[in-house]
Amino acid sequence: MTAFQLTEQKKRERTELVLRNIYNLPPIPNAIKEALEMLDKPALNSHALSSIISRDQGLVTKILTIANSPLYGLQRKVTTIDFAILVLGYSELRNIISVLSIVEAFKNKTDQYLSQKEFWLHSYLTGSAAKRLAEDFDFPNSGEAFIGGFLHDFGFSIMHRFFHADFIEVYNIVNQKGVSYSEAELEVLGMSHQQIGHYLTDKWNFPETLCDAILYHHNPNDSKDSKSLATIIHLADYMTEKLNIGNCYWDKNLQLSDSEIGLLRFRETEQIEKLIENYKDLFVEQAETVRYLS
Ligand SMILES: [Fe+2]
Ligand SMILES: [Fe+2]
Repeated sequence: MTAFQLTEQKKRERTELVLRNIYNLPPIPNAIKEALEMLDKPALNSHALSSIISRDQGLVTKILTIANSPLYGLQRKVTTIDFAILVLGYSELRNIISVLSIVEAFKNKTDQYLSQKEFWLHSYLTGSAAKRLAEDFDFPNSGEAFIGGFLHDFGFSIMHRFFHADFIEVYNIVNQKGVSYSEAELEVLGMSHQQIGHYLTDKWNFPETLCDAILYHHNPNDSKDSKSLATIIHLADYMTEKLNIGNCYWDKNLQLSDSEIGLLRFRETEQIEKLIENYKDLFVEQAETVRYLS
């Protein structure tokens, strides 16, 4: 083992120690907590669920905003939680509430290095595009694509909040040396934001395919078990940059490889460009709704 590998391993151990001890999160609002608990019960009572959610007017507004967004393409306007449960179903509702609980728990201060608004916009748009791609490409679980897309850069937000001095060092290294964020993150923390996101989602018992897709969202070809999901998230991420909507400074110069293009059954890049153009409306409209989320 070289001296460099040894220090990288030591840094990784130090980073994992901090990640293992992330407890000081703000409390999740009761309505979100109770709704998620109720959604986990085998004998689910939709009236009880609706009355729990309805106690929190802010939560009601957020759920209805997402339900009425182009993400679901519903014909009729959803104006009540009862109707939202009926048309979306429990599993979609669980995805929406999970995402809202994450935004709530990981709310952080904006500073000169990271705007929270931009971060959540990027997350929400990538999640939305990943969901739509999953549907368009017959991926079996579009809900997983939504959550995976939403959480793909979660490790970056964790770095900003729990490793702030290291975050600034990473930021400076990228700007001085012109290396990628993943490289600078490995140099400073011994872990990339992909690995941090994977570490936490795995610790929280998220489905393995989801954790794996988060780990490989920059290099889906290296994934053994979640190649399709990782590719879908990578393409959604790439779209934010190509459309210049909800894109971020840490995601510059994303590239799609030939095998990713092949996996999505495209023959040439031109077809991808057309597809991205077709997704533009979704991005514009979802960017409109995101301000209701945080
Ligand atoms: Fe990333
Ligand atoms: Fe990203």
